[in-house]
Amino acid sequence: MRNLDDLIAEGVKGRRVFVRSDLNVPLDGDKITDDGRVQASLPTISKLAEAGAKVVVAAHLGRPKGSPDPKFSLAPVAKRLGELLGKPVALATDVVGESAKSTVDGLADGGVALLENVRFDARESSKDAAERGALADEFAALVGETGAFVSDGFGVVHRKQASVYDIATKLPAYAGGLVLAEVEVLRQLAGEPKRPYVVALGGSKVSDKLAVIESLLPKVDTLLVGGGMCFTFLAAQGHGIGDSLLEAEMVETCKKLLADADGKIVLPTDIVIADDFSAEANTETVPATEIRDGWKGLDIGPDSVAAYGKVLRDAGTVFWNGPMGVFELAPFAEGTRGVAQAIAQATTAGDAFSVVGGGDSAAAVRLLGLPEDGFSHISTGGGASLEYLEGKELPGVAVLEA
Ligand code: 3PG
Ligand code: MG
Repeated sequence: MRNLDDLIAEGVKGRRVFVRSDLNVPLDGDKITDDGRVQASLPTISKLAEAGAKVVVAAHLGRPKGSPDPKFSLAPVAKRLGELLGKPVALATDVVGESAKSTVDGLADGGVALLENVRFDARESSKDAAERGALADEFAALVGETGAFVSDGFGVVHRKQASVYDIATKLPAYAGGLVLAEVEVLRQLAGEPKRPYVVALGGSKVSDKLAVIESLLPKVDTLLVGGGMCFTFLAAQGHGIGDSLLEAEMVETCKKLLADADGKIVLPTDIVIADDFSAEANTETVPATEIRDGWKGLDIGPDSVAAYGKVLRDAGTVFWNGPMGVFELAPFAEGTRGVAQAIAQATTAGDAFSVVGGGDSAAAVRLLGLPEDGFSHISTGGGASLEYLEGKELPGVAVLEA
């Protein structure tokens, strides 16, 4: 794989370089609640700018329906990127239209422009290779004859999309530093992880995690389950779960996973329940076997945190993906906080190699105020790291290796 350093060694002064970053940050209105992905994208963009390139950054935000939608504008991201770079970032008001062309034409050497949300163009995510290819041709035209492509949006390399995949077939393509670093960490996890290898999985749906559970089970020593998905497992054990999240069609699958797991799957023993999905709800901590009707589980309880913490502190390798509860609401944040703290202890006081996988869990680390250096690696890609660990090929990486 050719990489960013190779490109810089070739010389980029005055050349236009198309950089795909993952700037898909959580927003509250037009306020960025966690800028981790913008921060993680900075090194590649600044390196190119400092070397005198005209940097054209492309990114998506959310999942607009293939046409412009102000709710998903990258305007707040352009502003933040400019603040972090210490110089303004020109935002085009379209993806490859007149504004994109004139914005790119206006770049000085070392200047940085951001195209508007690439998913405002339906061709970006089209299943039709010709449609995606046509958009990729327009991206390539923006950077012209001497242009190059740097793939740095690790969080999106599992998507076969025009600005991630097809563009790499149109321009000389290079892996950015973030993609390289992330892939290297995942290789370590998938190779010979130091034991015990403990995976903590949360998030709302078992169906989202099924493939990774199936492929990790033979490799891990313990799989700690939390988040909304633990209730489908508890239901599979025959317990009432009140109004907690349930994927009814996954109950049989969970039964089978539990039966085949050889005791490796560990479920919470206590749950914080609430009478409403709200920070003002009435709450109680109950045994996981005693969730009452009319109540829903929104976090794992303190006994579970203690038990998970013990397993995590003894681990040699930890991979964590998905919050343990609704950490955005203070009454349901302790499960996620406790698990994160235990992983940080395993890493700093012990010598565990720990990886936080993904958008939500990475944001949780920062939003809960945990020190980022408590973890060996905080990934910017949730879906991408899960797919890698499932053994799937990441199209945005494979195309760089081709
Ligand atoms: C993410 O947040 O998971 C990445 O930015 C990819 O976004 P997507 O899941 O909407 O493709
Ligand atoms: Mg995603």
